[in-house]
Amino acid sequence: MTAAHRGRFITLEGSEGSGKTTAARHLAEWLRSRGETVVLTAEPGGTPLGEEVRRLVLHLRNVSDDLDPRADALLYAAARAQHTARLIRPALERGEHVVCARYLDSSLAYQGAGYGNDPDEMRWLQRFATYALLPDLTILIDVPVDIGLGRKRRGEWNRFEDTQSVAFFETVRAAYLGLAAAEPERFRVVDGSGSVERTDKLVREVVEPVVFG
Ligand code: TYD
Repeated sequence: MTAAHRGRFITLEGSEGSGKTTAARHLAEWLRSRGETVVLTAEPGGTPLGEEVRRLVLHLRNVSDDLDPRADALLYAAARAQHTARLIRPALERGEHVVCARYLDSSLAYQGAGYGNDPDEMRWLQRFATYALLPDLTILIDVPVDIGLGRKRRGEWNRFEDTQSVAFFETVRAAYLGLAAAEPERFRVVDGSGSVERTDKLVREVVEPVVFG
């Protein structure tokens, strides 16, 4: 597989209510309108195993706050390995683009910074789970925590999110910004505090040179 024939792998990251799921969908629609073939996917999910893991972790968090941090990290990692091997990598090898809401950086921010797993061990685990496949571009949609949580409260709500403190989400946000600062060639930070249309426009501006440049 030569680099020229490989599709682009674009991930969107951000904390709760940042709007990354909507932004990912609109990005995929925009790329398709320009004639590109796009696989739109999200984590945890994207495969039958991933959907089971999503159901499991959200359910476990809803029934009990006692999920062991390493067990948590391994559940997301198992879903990610399956997703990478069975969906993401094959699509890229077919020359298709992959737009994915959440990927390894979610685990660095949540399971690492948020739940206190060792950062180096988390990096190792992500490398293992992804077969060292890194995105070509990661868009961090950054919003202040109060705006993000305010949006979530107006939408669907689960007890897991209700029991998380504002301090937890501040930690996650700071971790994301730290990851972006550490890898400026892979990350672009986009302000997600405005309208959906504004976020879409900012996202397209950073994707344009990566896909069409
Ligand atoms: P998601 O469906 O993207 O929800 P949201 O719209 O709130 O961002 O993600 C579900 C939850 O899973 C979210 O609270 C973040 C968490 N998560 C992790 O903790 N680690 C991970 O690696 C991933 C992919 C998600």
